Amino acid sequence: MLGLATKIGEAAAAVREKWGGIPRVGLILGTGLGGLAEQIEQEAVIRYEEIPHFPHSTVESHAGQLVCGTLSGVPIVAMEGRFHFYEGYSMQQVTFPVRVMKALGIDTLIVTNAAGGMNPQQQLADLMIIEDHINLMGDNPLRGVNDDSLGPRFPDMCEPYDRRLISLASQSALELGIRAHTGVFVAVAGPNLETRAEYRMLRGMGADVVGMSTVPEVLVAKHASLRVLGFSIVTDLCLPDALEPVDIAKILKVAAEGGEKLARLIPHVLARLGETA
Ligand code: HPA
Repeated sequence: MLGLATKIGEAAAAVREKWGGIPRVGLILGTGLGGLAEQIEQEAVIRYEEIPHFPHSTVESHAGQLVCGTLSGVPIVAMEGRFHFYEGYSMQQVTFPVRVMKALGIDTLIVTNAAGGMNPQQQLADLMIIEDHINLMGDNPLRGVNDDSLGPRFPDMCEPYDRRLISLASQSALELGIRAHTGVFVAVAGPNLETRAEYRMLRGMGADVVGMSTVPEVLVAKHASLRVLGFSIVTDLCLPDALEPVDIAKILKVAAEGGEKLARLIPHVLARLGETA
């Protein structure tokens, strides 16, 4: 069986065959972020099926391709469509693309997601800059034999989300007149949404939003010494005493609305990335 490092090398080589650029930033586009991919000055678009060892996307709202090019003059590789643990992928599969982006040359990862808002200050389609996270997924992509060439056995998590990138994102949001909270993201395995009792518990343990992604990718990014910036779009209000049945069509609509804000904010952040280097 091929080792992880070999698979990463083969996948990265396949991307390099189609694109000669060296990305500085990796971008994981969650639900509602299609608009951002369109803003990239695209130099290559590579379907996941064309990349060896890449899992394939099964969720209809996710496209399943790597978009390579520049955004605000910064060379980037963007994942249009991500893999979720609830789809049945292993944590290693979910996070494999982060390893490949690192091998291609990125030093910074920007992750985005749609999440349920539990903080009463939040409104639908608001953005939250992720300051910290709680992993309640019940699994971890770093479990198993550690390849020391990829990162340390016991990676530090005292600052998973880069403080300077958080300030840059907050400042950029202010300049653009976009409401952006900062707060804690808690990751659950899904696929069901939470019960009232669960929302009450998650809020009580210190989380502001809840979602079914992102934390695995961030754990691997930190393992690989990447700087991380994360954004959540509040797509539904999860107030346990006023909870309404979930409406996935509405969540997707609100995600698209929040996605338009992120599609303005992220290029602004990228344009000023040099200030945090
Ligand atoms: N819970 C978990 N994941 C989610 C939610 C939620 O309420 N909304 C969007 N993703």
